[in-house]
Amino acid sequence: EEVAAEKCSKPDPVTDTLIECMDPTIPCPPTSKTPIVDFTPESTVKRIRRPVHLLNREYQEKYKEAVAKMKALPASNPLSFVRQAAIHQAYCDHHYHYDPDKKNVDFDVHNSWLFAPWHRMYIYFYEKALGQLIGDDTFGLPFWNWDTPAGMVVPALFKDSFANPLYDSNRNPDHLDMVANLNFLNDKSTPVAFNGPHDKAYQEAIYKNLATVHQQQMRGAGCARSFLGEKLCTDNISRQGQGSLESMAHTALHVWVGRGGGTSCTGGVVDFQGKTQCANDMGFLGSAGRDPLFYSHHANVDRMWHIWATKLGGEGFKDPEWLDASFVFYDDVDNPHPVRIKFRDVIDTKNLGYTYDAEADKDLPWKDCQL
Ligand code: C2O
Repeated sequence: EEVAAEKCSKPDPVTDTLIECMDPTIPCPPTSKTPIVDFTPESTVKRIRRPVHLLNREYQEKYKEAVAKMKALPASNPLSFVRQAAIHQAYCDHHYHYDPDKKNVDFDVHNSWLFAPWHRMYIYFYEKALGQLIGDDTFGLPFWNWDTPAGMVVPALFKDSFANPLYDSNRNPDHLDMVANLNFLNDKSTPVAFNGPHDKAYQEAIYKNLATVHQQQMRGAGCARSFLGEKLCTDNISRQGQGSLESMAHTALHVWVGRGGGTSCTGGVVDFQGKTQCANDMGFLGSAGRDPLFYSHHANVDRMWHIWATKLGGEGFKDPEWLDASFVFYDDVDNPHPVRIKFRDVIDTKNLGYTYDAEADKDLPWKDCQL
């Protein structure tokens, strides 16, 4: 049994042309001449990830400045924002395939046990690049703290205007000031104003959200498979399945924030089949990485894994196929070079030099909350 990621083919020449300027990191050894180095664990924890809604002025400005600088990098730099976004597109939007015999099957980092560790790696390199761009290696990627009542709305820091580097115009305008619905996929009830009077509807919406997180993190998360997703190896690629970490608040918020999909609009992006997709950044995995909010959203998804593993007694997989699965990402804005990193390297965030604000985790409001 071998892990799928090690068994892919070279990028498909057709899709490669389509997103050629993006040259994402690839699961097969890059064709570039640059040698791939192995990841070495960081020696100290120097980055603390904090809740977006509690950042002080100075930190808010730092975050904006870092993203602005990343957006200003030329697309020839693999750590530029456009190329970072393209990595996510490549890994879920039909760009890669399994080994040549299974060429018709798309490779995807979603829907299986690849989800949590792959996204942890991805935002780790993103976070490091941001810190480097502002000359601050203690910069921790702020997280969208949607599991606590005060954070259950699209953070104000990401809104405002086109001048804000954290802004994205492809968000659903009807949802921006409403209580974010963490169960949006199953519950289409009328959105409730976040800043409105704290009336019964508001209280109910908050309470339902807490129950959703409780279900995702505790009731429905008893073992590695239920929380992290189904095992995925090359001999069982048809048996994929999401864990509660991926299928619940994570996916609901993608769809909640995104502008709505479909193919009947002017403008929009051309997908791999040549069809125009309406601009829908967070709501469509192929475009999600274009919204800066994606990375703060995923920082909280990552935090949910961290809490499950460090506070709720959750135990990850023991399978060597999982632990030894590896991917290649670019590191170092000034001298970009590919680094191979294994799942076992990222199980403990200490190895990656970051942790989460302890204050935010002190009393998890969803811990004892069940509908
Ligand atoms: Cu790669 Cu939130 O998805």
